Amino acid sequence: MKLKSQILIFLLIFGVYGKIQDDNQAQQNVISEVGSSNGTTDSKEGKKESEVLEATLEERRVDESPCFHADINQFCFEKEPTKGCECEQFRDAIICCNVTDILKSIGCLSMNASTYKNIHVINATQAEINVTQLNSLKQVDSLVITDGNVSRLVGQFARFSSIKCLNFSNNNITEINERAFMNLNQLKIVDLSANNLTKLPSLQNTTVDILGNSKISCINISAALEKDVKFFNKEKSLCESEVVYWFNDTASITISDVEKRKKLEYDCPEKCRCKPGHMQYTNIEENKKDHLIFISDVDCSNSGLIKLPTKLPENTYYLNITNNSISSLSALVTNDYYLNIKSLFADDNLITSIVDLEGSKFLENFTVLSLRNNKIKDIPYYILSNLEKNLNGKILYLGGNRLTCECHIVKNINHWRLINDCDKILCNNMQAKILELKETELCKSGIDDWANYIEYLIVIEVLLLIALFTKVSYDYYVFKKTGFLPFPASYIILYNQK
Ligand SMILES: *[C@@H]1O[C@H](CO)[C@@H](O)[C@H](O)[C@H]1NC(C)=O
Ligand SMILES: *[C@@H]1O[C@H](CO)[C@@H](O)[C@H](O)[C@H]1NC(C)=O
Ligand SMILES: *[C@@H]1O[C@H](CO)[C@@H](O)[C@H](O)[C@H]1NC(C)=O
Ligand SMILES: *[C@@H]1O[C@H](CO)[C@@H](O)[C@H](O)[C@H]1NC(C)=O
Ligand SMILES: *[C@@H]1O[C@H](CO)[C@@H](O)[C@H](O)[C@H]1NC(C)=O
Ligand SMILES: *[C@@H]1O[C@H](CO)[C@@H](O)[C@H](O)[C@H]1NC(C)=O
Ligand SMILES: *[C@@H]1O[C@H](CO)[C@@H](O)[C@H](O)[C@H]1NC(C)=O
Ligand SMILES: *[C@@H]1O[C@H](CO)[C@@H](O)[C@H](O)[C@H]1NC(C)=O
Ligand SMILES: *[C@@H]1O[C@H](CO)[C@@H](O)[C@H](O)[C@H]1NC(C)=O
Ligand SMILES: *[C@@H]1O[C@H](CO)[C@@H](O)[C@H](O)[C@H]1NC(C)=O
Ligand SMILES: *[C@@H]1O[C@H](CO)[C@@H](O)[C@H](O)[C@H]1NC(C)=O
Ligand SMILES: *[C@@H]1O[C@H](CO)[C@@H](O)[C@H](O)[C@H]1NC(C)=O
Repeated sequence: MKLKSQILIFLLIFGVYGKIQDDNQAQQNVISEVGSSNGTTDSKEGKKESEVLEATLEERRVDESPCFHADINQFCFEKEPTKGCECEQFRDAIICCNVTDILKSIGCLSMNASTYKNIHVINATQAEINVTQLNSLKQVDSLVITDGNVSRLVGQFARFSSIKCLNFSNNNITEINERAFMNLNQLKIVDLSANNLTKLPSLQNTTVDILGNSKISCINISAALEKDVKFFNKEKSLCESEVVYWFNDTASITISDVEKRKKLEYDCPEKCRCKPGHMQYTNIEENKKDHLIFISDVDCSNSGLIKLPTKLPENTYYLNITNNSISSLSALVTNDYYLNIKSLFADDNLITSIVDLEGSKFLENFTVLSLRNNKIKDIPYYILSNLEKNLNGKILYLGGNRLTCECHIVKNINHWRLINDCDKILCNNMQAKILELKETELCKSGIDDWANYIEYLIVIEVLLLIALFTKVSYDYYVFKKTGFLPFPASYIILYNQK
């Protein structure tokens, strides 16, 4: 609930921010586009006109933006409602307001198509635009349809179109045909900010603005990045990612984070395959969600490795090294890249021992440890008892290993049962599985166990200590009463005085 409302507030802030940005942009563009008009704006005097125009052209060359943007207030809202034609010509542009049918409105100007290069349609209240039907606009450089309530773009732009900039900012677009922009091979900029998109259409080699659409899946963004799509406002544009901890959730992350997440593909160890796992909160105790991190999944299975990779991507939680020739897991304790590993799949290797893992963070907090079909001969008892202490959901597989079967295994068989496939653990010194062992056969003399010897030793030591204490107390009592020390204390003192 809390998260949901947080996301909502976030969305709101960014939605509003998106609008502000847009307005700012619009205003800036007025200066650059409209400033040179014949006095429709401000009080620009004729003399300064050419200066402004030059500055404008300069500016245009600098950012090389092919996009046209008229001042929506000037052209639409500070104006008497138009009768007849909703569009007007302004230099090489057509500007339309409050249109219900874009083509019809442009048509009313009955202009030769080769005389205009830019179109800005403001407040189009047309729920659906079939872009196939905009075929007659294919000679324009910049097609801008903003501040309306368009909700769907269907169809596909025509081939051989010279459109370089598309701007559908601040509408209510929820869906765009996957192939809508496919034919626009000159397209450089697509502004889809302040809409309600869930999915990007197919794009390549363009720069896109999606600020204010937070429902786009990050997987979609990631795929676009792969096709050389660039994004404006990467730090502020959000996409939706799955979050997994012990519940499923979604969270908004920035495109910058998506890019970082893709970077892990470059940090992948040789011969391994890495992919971004899910998102996860670093700390979620008492509903306190710290920052989100993304989890790396690293698969080095079947790669002929003889030791664990020396480097892993950031936040590797899952490592699969199944079917290699690895014999030691000590890197798990000594190498900081392994600090975050929670699931280790190391079946079919040559691992001989897990003693290395004693006292490690991994052993304390792992979720899955799979060591099937290795060469492990012995599992120290403390590892099993540690497992019992903080079992919460830990999964341990050791099947197919051949242990040296001794009395202590049978004695502690309940601990061994914590191993998820304990029924598949074998003995190397007899034909049996550990669950089939019989106490009567393995534990013949009753004290054939080191643990038992140590218990006896401890008892003897304690008895000796008590005896010593009693003797000292007795000596003190006698000395106080008689002034003489009993043997052997008297002897030791006499000896020292000599
Ligand atoms: C600007 O002025 C020129 C001549 O001074 C005129 O031809 C043109 O139509 C005017 N443009 C607008 C938008 O008023
Ligand atoms: C567009 O619609 C708004 C709101 O109805 C109105 O104020 C404005 O004058 C209209 N603009 C034009 C150019 O028709
Ligand atoms: C958009 O245009 C419609 C007419 O097509 C008008 O009723 C509406 O008020 C306009 N919206 C705005 C925000 O001006
Ligand atoms: C449009 O203008 C171009 C050049 O200015 C001309 O060649 C063409 O014939 C015109 N087309 C129409 C339909 O008037
Ligand atoms: C768009 O807005 C106009 C009025 O502004 C309204 O009549 C129309 O139903 C809206 N269209 C959609 C798809 O919401
Ligand atoms: C936005 O689009 C949705 C459907 O796609 C529609 O239900 C809703 O009324 C639209 N909102 C506006 C403000 O036009
Ligand atoms: C878009 O328009 C074209 C040409 O008029 C038509 O063939 C196509 O079916 C339309 N697409 C949709 C989704 O309406
Ligand atoms: C986005 O779409 C959803 C449903 O499709 C709607 O409830 C919500 O109001 C829309 N948001 C905006 C900003 O149009
Ligand atoms: C992308 O566009 C640039 C020029 O804008 C061009 O140099 C580059 O080759 C294009 N890349 C692809 C993959 O089309
Ligand atoms: C989370 O989602 C995955 C797949 O979508 C599902 O397998 C899993 O059971 C879900 N977990 C919880 C706690 O809802
Ligand atoms: C680990 O890799 C092996 C071999 O590629 C595969 O069979 C196994 O399913 C993987 N384990 C997990 C848990 O993904
Ligand atoms: C292990 O997990 C517990 C909570 O499950 C946590 O309190 C503890 O700090 C973790 N230990 C390490 C070494 O990360």
